[in-house]
Amino acid sequence: MKLFYTRSAAHLAKRINIKKGRFEIKRYADGEISVRIKDNIKGKEVFVIGSTFMPGDNFLELIFMLDALKRSGAKINLLIPYFGYARQDRVKEGEAFTGKVVCDILGSFKLKRIFVIHMHSSRLSKFLDYKDVIPYELYAPIIKKYEIVVAPDKGALEAVKKLSKGCKVPYAYMKKIRKDGKVSINKLMGDVKNKNVVIFDDMITTGGTMIEASRLLKSNGAKNIDVIATHGVLVESAVNRLRKYVGRIYVTDTLAQKSNDICIVGISKFIGRILIKLL
Ligand code: R5P
Repeated sequence: MKLFYTRSAAHLAKRINIKKGRFEIKRYADGEISVRIKDNIKGKEVFVIGSTFMPGDNFLELIFMLDALKRSGAKINLLIPYFGYARQDRVKEGEAFTGKVVCDILGSFKLKRIFVIHMHSSRLSKFLDYKDVIPYELYAPIIKKYEIVVAPDKGALEAVKKLSKGCKVPYAYMKKIRKDGKVSINKLMGDVKNKNVVIFDDMITTGGTMIEASRLLKSNGAKNIDVIATHGVLVESAVNRLRKYVGRIYVTDTLAQKSNDICIVGISKFIGRILIKLL
């Protein structure tokens, strides 16, 4: 099986030891994207890795690549390192249901299998048949260094419970409220006094959740606070803002990382292992 990838996942593909397919992603003078498969893959199984986060070109590249592969007669296994638009997994009146739109478009390709690395929530599983994969094995050696692992909200609790059990490290959790886009966390269940704490979440975007969680932990006597998340979305200034509240910031490289000020947990080998199991 050959590996095809979009630019959003090129940094991962180059570290995955699977033969690469031959393809071309280019732009016309007006900026429009063209994807061409140069291998004969008729009737063959292939892997594709690509993420769907903004800018929209990432998603377009992915769906054009899926279309090109489909037209070339391939049977496609897709792995999405970061499923962009997954946070819009519910809809309010008058709003576009973007998470579902992404699922519907991906679903229309009738792919063989779809894997998603640490999906934001399971709500979109109603609209797309995929397997959610959280790389617990990459986090375990880190989590084991702490005295307690904390879920900053309900969404992170299930994963934190699994980490807590697997690493034999106790857990605590918090109640987060998001109102008009502003995060507030004011309830902590668990004892963090004088403890080295690590907060675990699926992603860090503005850093607001981790900052609010750290404030509450500090006021409850936590000694040292580090954070770990699968997806380092890390919008501009997030790392600088976080720096005032937390020690180490661990994220995987599902999204290519630029800052030297964070600890990167490489995920390409883990992704390679998932794909090789399909061979
Ligand atoms: C939300 O429910 C997610 O699990 C994360 O907690 C959130 O998206 C992180 O975003 P931010 O860093 O902007 O608080």
